[in-house]
Amino acid sequence: MASVSSLAASVHQRVADALTAALPEAAAADPLLRRSDRADFQANGMLALAKRLGGNPRDLAGQVVARLPQDDDVIGGVEVSGPGFLNITVSDAAIVRTLAARAADERLGVPRAEAPGTTVIDYSQPNVAKEMHVGHLRSTVIGDAIVRILEHRGEHVVRRHHIGDWGTQFGMLIQYLTEHPHELDHASDTAGGTGGGEAAMSRLNRLYKASRTRFDSDEEFKARARDRVVLLQAGDEETLALWHKIVDESKVYFQAVYEQLDVEVRDADVVGESAYNDDLQQVVKDLESSGVAVRSEGALCVFFDDVKGPDGNPTPLIVQKSNGGFGYAATDLAAIRDRVGRLHADTLLYVVDARQALHFRMVFETARRAGWLPEGAARQLAFGTVLGKDGKPFKTREGETVRLVDLLDEAVERAAGVVREKARDLSDEEIAERAAQVGIGAVKYADLSTSMSRDYVFDLDRMVSLNGDTSVYLQYAYARIQSILRRAVGVAPAAHPELPLAPAERALGLHLDEFGQTLEAVAESYEPHKLAAYLYGLATHYTAFYEHCPVVKDGVERTVSENRLFLCELTARTLHEGMALLGIRTPARL
Ligand code: ARG
Repeated sequence: MASVSSLAASVHQRVADALTAALPEAAAADPLLRRSDRADFQANGMLALAKRLGGNPRDLAGQVVARLPQDDDVIGGVEVSGPGFLNITVSDAAIVRTLAARAADERLGVPRAEAPGTTVIDYSQPNVAKEMHVGHLRSTVIGDAIVRILEHRGEHVVRRHHIGDWGTQFGMLIQYLTEHPHELDHASDTAGGTGGGEAAMSRLNRLYKASRTRFDSDEEFKARARDRVVLLQAGDEETLALWHKIVDESKVYFQAVYEQLDVEVRDADVVGESAYNDDLQQVVKDLESSGVAVRSEGALCVFFDDVKGPDGNPTPLIVQKSNGGFGYAATDLAAIRDRVGRLHADTLLYVVDARQALHFRMVFETARRAGWLPEGAARQLAFGTVLGKDGKPFKTREGETVRLVDLLDEAVERAAGVVREKARDLSDEEIAERAAQVGIGAVKYADLSTSMSRDYVFDLDRMVSLNGDTSVYLQYAYARIQSILRRAVGVAPAAHPELPLAPAERALGLHLDEFGQTLEAVAESYEPHKLAAYLYGLATHYTAFYEHCPVVKDGVERTVSENRLFLCELTARTLHEGMALLGIRTPARL
């Protein structure tokens, strides 16, 4: 269906046209329209413009007002204020008309991108045979939201989970497995029935510890492990079979975590470091022959004028080590060639910890010099660190990284407490289901509502609080609306609300109208926290509306009830859609 142009866009158009008519030499000048507390909108553009052209801003503003359309019902009122602002009020009729058009559209009138491209997004990239930790939480949750937001815009999105499934440590693991073939067997498992994922991880942990101990204490085993890496990279069949066994076991574990996180990760999109193994020689050849990389002490290196170590010497990107081995950088370079060359990406996104910023800066620049990556096409969406309450990177009391599954379990447990307190008539099964939606939603929202680049404190008490900027608050607003809609028997939401609107209705309506432009900005800047802020604003406006405007009640006229039900329903749909784009559920009852 057709997209709906927002009130902001309609007002902007009118003011821009009037500005051009008043001052032809300022054609295409931005009237700088903003939402405002004093009126609905404020246009500030006349100030700078008059200054630049040497006129009086109040005069210019007055001329713009004189040229606004007269027979138009979008702008309800306008006045010149202060040194030369325009305070603009839109008419109730215009608000109602746009909202009705939004309500009639299944996309709520939100436009699709006019010229969608292909974005390859690299996110949720845990490491094989290792536990997932809070860093992987961030990459997964942020990446998942961005995928949803971009796809909703109509962008063609290719997901890549660049899992760590390659490297020297696999020599050690595989060698140990050849010597202890039953180490990964399920029969010897002692972890019990806590789900397939936990059991798989505990087997992998055991294998990891046993092989590590052996590797550190037995020189001959160490040598055999090194030979095993060579066999792995050469594609030896028996070695590959064991490697697959380890990778598959890890995938069982990853999928269990994804399921708990309520995130879909498709197997076809899991394209780990190993997938680029066959391309690495070519990467090296091309970089060397083009002179982008040079041999230095046997290693193949790329140098940058502005990347230096603490000693002042340049720190190169090492593409190939002096022993011939490839590392993290080579794989990322091969992946760029694949993503641009074969997948035809216009945009490459990397949702990766900010502490890897230097790596990506060097990799992108290398790929650009090699002609594999257009300038500016790749971007790291660098996220900050998850901190403990002490303000330091989140660790257990023993100083170990916190297991993601433990955090999620605890979040769901806390949420169960909140759910149980709110609704005493729920069955255990219902409590469990809602607790999962509330607890996981809380963790995701806390992550997504903070600007990505910032660190944040993992504080479950705050995350599951019913008050404040939390997902529970939003879910609660949604559930409350559903309950109002359920109880409104015999009265239906208006298809086209009547006039006039009460102040709280207007404020809610104006905010509802901003959904589309918010999504557009969020998709352009890759900033999910702006969507979270919008939704929090929506729930806050709804709460004010709910306090001032009884919906269905004795003494409230039927048409008024129908109007208010209309606003309730549109708010619920907007909340639901917005939360879904963040990957958060909106249960109908809480
Ligand atoms: N596996 C890495 C880690 O756990 C992240 C990989 C990021 N993606 C990439 N293309 N390098 O830190």
